[in-house]
Amino acid sequence: MKFIVVQNDQEMSRAAAGHVVRTLQERADAVLGLATGSTPVGMYQELVRLYKLGGIDFSQVTTFNLDEYVGLSSNHPRSYHVYMLNHLFSHVNAVPEQIYIPDGNAPDLKKECEAYDQAIDHAGGIDLQVLGLGINGHIGFNEPGSSPEGRTMVVQLAESTIQANSRFFDNPASVPKQAITVGIGTILNCSRQIILLAKGEEKAQAVVNMMHQQPNPANPASYLKLHKDVTVIVDEQAASMMTLMTT
Ligand code: GLP
Repeated sequence: MKFIVVQNDQEMSRAAAGHVVRTLQERADAVLGLATGSTPVGMYQELVRLYKLGGIDFSQVTTFNLDEYVGLSSNHPRSYHVYMLNHLFSHVNAVPEQIYIPDGNAPDLKKECEAYDQAIDHAGGIDLQVLGLGINGHIGFNEPGSSPEGRTMVVQLAESTIQANSRFFDNPASVPKQAITVGIGTILNCSRQIILLAKGEEKAQAVVNMMHQQPNPANPASYLKLHKDVTVIVDEQAASMMTLMTT
């Protein structure tokens, strides 16, 4: 895994957006795997800025989001559908038919998951997958204990994830307890290139664990070592424990 430390959120966002831009330059009809959470917000802002300058075109791009809460409708303000609309899709020329986000309100969630994997396969896989990192090492919503072979599925959220994400909800009780997530197997087998972003001191331990542990089920992000093209981009705070270990 390549490990890049940048000074701050702005540099991380620019570096991440640079990966997206290069992917679109290589292939105008690229397939992007997209993440939510607070970490990639700056990357989306940078992509919108570049789009408005005429630097990038999303008209042929297909996107697959990593995850969505179960039980939230697509217009719920805390759904990842609304997040993506607010941060990216309402600002660029992405075509709605080419935007995929799991439907956490689907009547048959198992079918929804199977159809999602089929759609990824049908699109020819993902050219660039963007990931964030949970404080417990989760990627997407693949919590500790997840299988490295997992495909898209319904998962129970870990208590620490519910707590961490409660900042986006009125209170912890209103955070959904389940989500649909693209599985680790889908991420590893269907992505040609992966970038993982992490910022802030609260991610420092998760970054060290990811970089130093052998792939193991207690730490989902450690499975990224099984992929041949992963770039980890972190700010100085998220890298602070790595620095301490090497000095
Ligand atoms: C959330 C999302 C992940 C995200 C992670 C980190 O629960 N499901 O896709 O990468 O947790 O979130 P944040 O960037 O807000 O720290």
